[in-house]
Amino acid sequence: MELYETKSALRTALPDLRAGGTLGLVPTMGYLHEGHLALARAARAACDRVIASIYVNPTQFGDAEDLAKYPRDTDRDLALLRAEGVDAVFLPDPESMYHPQAQTIVETTDLAGRLMGALRPGHFRGVATVVTKLFNLIQPDRAFFGEKDYQQLLVIRTMVRDLDMPVEIIGVPTQRAPDGLALSSRNVRLNPAQRAAAPVLAASLARAESLLRADPQTPVEALQAEIEAHLATEPLSCTESVDIQDAATLADLSGPLALPAVILLAVRFEPVLLIDQRVVSPA
Ligand code: PAF
Repeated sequence: MELYETKSALRTALPDLRAGGTLGLVPTMGYLHEGHLALARAARAACDRVIASIYVNPTQFGDAEDLAKYPRDTDRDLALLRAEGVDAVFLPDPESMYHPQAQTIVETTDLAGRLMGALRPGHFRGVATVVTKLFNLIQPDRAFFGEKDYQQLLVIRTMVRDLDMPVEIIGVPTQRAPDGLALSSRNVRLNPAQRAAAPVLAASLARAESLLRADPQTPVEALQAEIEAHLATEPLSCTESVDIQDAATLADLSGPLALPAVILLAVRFEPVLLIDQRVVSPA
């Protein structure tokens, strides 16, 4: 597995990397878990060559403390990627990724301010900007993102559509622990009691889906109230948001479902914010 630690090393190697056939990119911020490895496996299955990037992107963190606390374990990450048969890793020096006077941003103006974007202003602008930089640097044919970060996936798909970026975006289903908790690097920051309580997110999504199956006419408002009530049964959790939106546009919905909807949860286990999502369809 090749390791490129500078943009210029990557640029030099790129013609060879691209000559090997289709190139798949798995962008990550490191501290890899099973969810990332599922992205690597999906890329391995769909592309001739696979490159992963490991870069903790400062522009998508609102809080410097959150950035400093973000877990890192590069040696382990590299060993895991090697074991998955990844061909190359781009691991840029944190200081070299952005020009010191960088002033150009990429923003999906409507999507970036909705939902999670309203809770974390600037987050999706940071994601769209760094992903654009990675696409420009690596020029992948396909790029792989988890469906768990549903809004991020929509932001990236929208950006690629709007800016005619020549890359295919592949969404990979959420990987879960046996108790249902969606895998995330943030999970290691939960204390044991919080970790035991955190599957309440997945359980409330499953409950919403079975309510809808039992009565497809259940209005969105009633579904939302049921989910909030279920989350509130877990005293360690603090619900930040429960949103039921049009799955394709994230537009608001009301009344019985006529279109596929996505249920998006943001629940805090102080100080860690967990998210989860599920797409539900009318009968
Ligand atoms: O999902 C992530 O890990 C990050 O948001 C990404 C896409 C690697 C951009 O920094």
